Amino acid sequence: MKEQIHVKKAGSATDPLWYKDAVIYELHVRTFQDSNGDGIGDLPGLISRLDYLQNLGVTCIWLLPFFPSPLRDDGYDIADYVDVHPTYGTIDDFKSFLSAAHERGMQVLIELVINHTSDQHPWFKAARLAPPGSPERNFYVWSPTDQLYRDAPIIFSDTEKSNWAWDDVAHSYYWHRFFSHQPDLNFDNPAVMEEVLKAMRFWLDLGVDALRMDAIPYLVERDGTTCESLPETHAIIKKLRATIDAEYTNRFLLAEANQWPTDVRPYFGDGDECHMTFHFPLMPRIYMALRQEDRLPITDIIAQTPAIPDNCQWGLFLRNHDELTLEMVTSDERDYMYFAYSADPRMRVNSGIRRRLAPLLDNNRRRIELLNSLLLSFPGTPIMYYGDEIGMGDNIYLGDRNAVRTPMQWNSDRNAGFSTAVPAKLCFPVIMDPIYGYQAVNVESHLSDQSSLLHWTRNMIALRKLFHVFGRGSMEFLNPENSKVLAYIRHYDPSTASREDTATAPVQNFTAPGTETVLCVANLSRFAQPVSLDLAAFAGMQPVEMLGYVPFPIVTGQPYPLTLAPYSFFWLELQPPVSEASIDAPDEEPTTDDLTPGEESRPTNPNHPNDTT
Ligand code: GLC
Ligand code: CA
Repeated sequence: MKEQIHVKKAGSATDPLWYKDAVIYELHVRTFQDSNGDGIGDLPGLISRLDYLQNLGVTCIWLLPFFPSPLRDDGYDIADYVDVHPTYGTIDDFKSFLSAAHERGMQVLIELVINHTSDQHPWFKAARLAPPGSPERNFYVWSPTDQLYRDAPIIFSDTEKSNWAWDDVAHSYYWHRFFSHQPDLNFDNPAVMEEVLKAMRFWLDLGVDALRMDAIPYLVERDGTTCESLPETHAIIKKLRATIDAEYTNRFLLAEANQWPTDVRPYFGDGDECHMTFHFPLMPRIYMALRQEDRLPITDIIAQTPAIPDNCQWGLFLRNHDELTLEMVTSDERDYMYFAYSADPRMRVNSGIRRRLAPLLDNNRRRIELLNSLLLSFPGTPIMYYGDEIGMGDNIYLGDRNAVRTPMQWNSDRNAGFSTAVPAKLCFPVIMDPIYGYQAVNVESHLSDQSSLLHWTRNMIALRKLFHVFGRGSMEFLNPENSKVLAYIRHYDPSTASREDTATAPVQNFTAPGTETVLCVANLSRFAQPVSLDLAAFAGMQPVEMLGYVPFPIVTGQPYPLTLAPYSFFWLELQPPVSEASIDAPDEEPTTDDLTPGEESRPTNPNHPNDTT
């Protein structure tokens, strides 16, 4: 029996705060690489693509659910918590995958979906047959009426009319926050918690590095409340965390709580609940700022974002496997987003937009780069969605959120190199339209094109990883008059690194050893923009453009002028003043045109992405 094999393996990370420096890549085994020609991706296929991920530079792989499941919610409808879906492989394949990822220096994040199971889970099959009040029945939430908990909103509003469904076998209603085939587990029953802990330990014992807590606000229901984020739910999370802290090292919990920043804050607890939570409200506001050509939506939501404990981190993303959710915007903002980003009603589902990054941005390379520059330089850990690094498209004629879940495009061979199956057999069709089709958009073509989005993304990831400031530092906005320009200072001083203290306090020490200060400037407009920055606090410092190592004019007490091309951005490292003699720079003040990457006066850094090729 698998549960009896109890050899605990360590996770692969060594720094307890490793998740702050991570670059996470989200993928589904099902759609990444098929190894046996059955048209469905699998673990051996994924293993064969690990070199690609290592080369891209991502440090942590997030696997969408790969457990036995009828796959009516892409695997979030779990029928067995402690096994692998047979079409993806076996537990042994998973172990091989895990060690292959670890060998390449990548950590692994998997799903812990504990709010609900599939109605095909043996627990539910037993529950509906068992008498009311019996231990089996009590694994789920039952009621003789559908009038209880009426203040809980319906999440999948396009498909579900109620959070209760009638079960003819049990002669009772059961509670489900998502699809009606996903009954919610009953956390008032201690036996449920025991099973959840078993499942959690099962994967952590194998050496899994991190767990994403799916749909975590909805664990416990109480009448007269929205049944979200109740104290009882937080008590359960604390218990899971305490177990991890007591029994494992260097693992992390990521909360999926689609809530306003102040409502998400409790999911960090006092540093004793989740290590990381997604920043849901920031995401749509990045798209709003871009379309409105105004920084306000971003600065506003960051201002509303509370400080978090030292050992905690925000998880940042532009897109994921779900719809671009618009739950955390006002109804006016939602209308605006629908108008701006989903011309065709087919592009909408529930309260969101089911499109990928590139089509959302009209396949505009500069916009894609701009948004990625924000993702990689905002405070938090960036999470990328597979395929977005090559600008993959979507298929809005597929149902539900499958629009954004089509197979990874590896090359221009049959089925994009994803599978050798006859095309009709594929789990989802590959994208075939003339713009995003796999003949044009694929990894192989991007690898052979030095100026491809893939190469650019790889360089940016490598650059980010050279600095601790992005994952660990504070952020302070500058307030230039031109509101089309977003400018912020990232600052990290390892000796005083404490997000809770430094997030709002002005940065002070720029010269202490290990200190990193980066000025980020982004033009949200489709036209060129001038901007004048108040950098008086940094007078004397030397800005160096980080991608090309290009020195910019020294900062003085005067306003600092910059000119930005449409949708362009600068990452400028503010280096401490250097004595004149040691400056190895051209006689004249350099301008952006004078120096191109690779020119003689540039300092070299063996780790710099532009110095290694
Ligand atoms: C989470 C997942 C989503 C799934 C839902 C129900 O929101 O991200 O894909 O449908 O949980 O499990
Ligand atoms: Ca397969």
